[in-house]
Amino acid sequence: GLEALRGLNSGRLRLTVASTANYFATDLLANFSRRQPGITFQLEVTNREGVIRRIQDNEMDLAIMGKPPEALDVAAEAFMPNPLVVIASPEHPLADGAPIPLERLQDELFVLREKGSGTRNAVERFLEQRGLRLHGGLEMSSNEAIKQSVQAGLGLGVVSIHTVALELELGRLRVLNVEGFPLERHWYLVHRSGKRLSPAAQAFRRFILDEADAHWQTPASAAATAPLQVPAGA
Ligand code: PGA
Repeated sequence: GLEALRGLNSGRLRLTVASTANYFATDLLANFSRRQPGITFQLEVTNREGVIRRIQDNEMDLAIMGKPPEALDVAAEAFMPNPLVVIASPEHPLADGAPIPLERLQDELFVLREKGSGTRNAVERFLEQRGLRLHGGLEMSSNEAIKQSVQAGLGLGVVSIHTVALELELGRLRVLNVEGFPLERHWYLVHRSGKRLSPAAQAFRRFILDEADAHWQTPASAAATAPLQVPAGA
């Protein structure tokens, strides 16, 4: 109706996003706010386990997360790819662009996310299905800490491409050419089934489903997913 044309005058939206999704969620919020300046936000950033708890509590309107929870009755809509990549410092011997067999990863030390992270779950499941395990010497509860450690040469990491767009552009990290990677995941907009969404939540849902894919096409993510550029002589 008219209200939709003019934008919503007011409303408060409670969002919970997985820590990995925070790398693009704030940009989307900014774009949404320009169209709907009357809507205010409460944003909580936590890992997958934390997001699932919030959905259970029914303490928020919408969640952005990886694979939707199987044990809960939710409505989940995929809206954007979430490829997981293996990263290394540019000086790492495996960072020369040559193909790397999956088993080879078992000989490397990894800096892994904490238990309860969706990224960590996905990697472990993928490797388990192939009878493999990573040596996670180091465990860290933030993507930033993992990126810093990998840059410093402490080990390899597996992260969502969304977290490393800038570092790849600046040449501070490399994506390794590992068999079976990138792992193909997606981002989902999730809420409890049967939950009545407020007008603000409905507007945000519509916005994400219509606009997020365009956001994915931005130069930073395009650069991050472009084929490996191996410098001459490397
Ligand atoms: P996380 O991200 O690793 O920050 O929990 C959520 C997910 O990828 O499922």
